[in-house]
Amino acid sequence: MIAGRTDGAGSGRAVRGKFITLEGIDGAGKSSHVAWIAEWLAERGRRVLVTREPGGTPLGEQLRALLLGEPMDLRTETLLVFAARQEHLAKRILPALARGEWVLCDRFTDATFAYQGGGRGLPLAAVEALERWVHEAFQPDLTLYFDLPIAVARERLAAAQAAPDRFEQEGAEFFERVRAAYLARVARDPHRIRIVDATPCLSEVKKQVEDILITFCG
Ligand SMILES: Nc1ncnc2c1ncn2[C@@H]1O[C@H](COP(=O)(O)OP(=O)(O)OP(=O)(O)O)[C@@H](O)[C@H]1O
Ligand SMILES: [Mg+2]
Repeated sequence: MIAGRTDGAGSGRAVRGKFITLEGIDGAGKSSHVAWIAEWLAERGRRVLVTREPGGTPLGEQLRALLLGEPMDLRTETLLVFAARQEHLAKRILPALARGEWVLCDRFTDATFAYQGGGRGLPLAAVEALERWVHEAFQPDLTLYFDLPIAVARERLAAAQAAPDRFEQEGAEFFERVRAAYLARVARDPHRIRIVDATPCLSEVKKQVEDILITFCG
């Protein structure tokens, strides 16, 4: 459904941008790194759109508020995640990529496999079916997966003292399943999904991410 890389030469059309996603359990550090990654890319001449899921559009942000706050059936939750994603792809992500912008997105479909699939136990076939319907073969060009022990993530969230959302209120076993599901995603697609050890201090994590970006950007 997304146009492949266009050959900009002579056509007047932009070369398709790259789609980079950040993944990891709550408290892994995604939001802590997204801003400098955007700057890093901009310094290297890329036009960058920073966005997040669920959300990224006015409707998507309304769905996010419901998803993070309102108890609901698991299928309802999964359908709303994909509804927000469809809106996000159609209105922001795909148009930006087609204009040649690079899109940096805090969470995408790997998170649905991890949270609704791994965490909540929805059969992966259901997530796969919705993935096929909403974005067929379209996948991130690069995914940075921030991995760390659940206990460390929980300590960080507790220290941050923000009110926990509906997902952050889940117990350690839930996050163990989410982490295991993320690691299973990495195992099946290690070229796209790159593991970042999110345990050390911010500057050490940053260094790992920078090494991955240098290789990716060439
Ligand atoms: N490497 C680190 N060392 C110490 N503290 C960290 C590190 N990375 C992030 N933190 C802190 O941990 C907390 C959670 O980080 P952050 O908000 O970036 O996580 P997140 O992955 O975006 O979580 P969520 O999925 O809940 O949005 C923040 O208070 C942040 O300052
Ligand atoms: Mg965050």
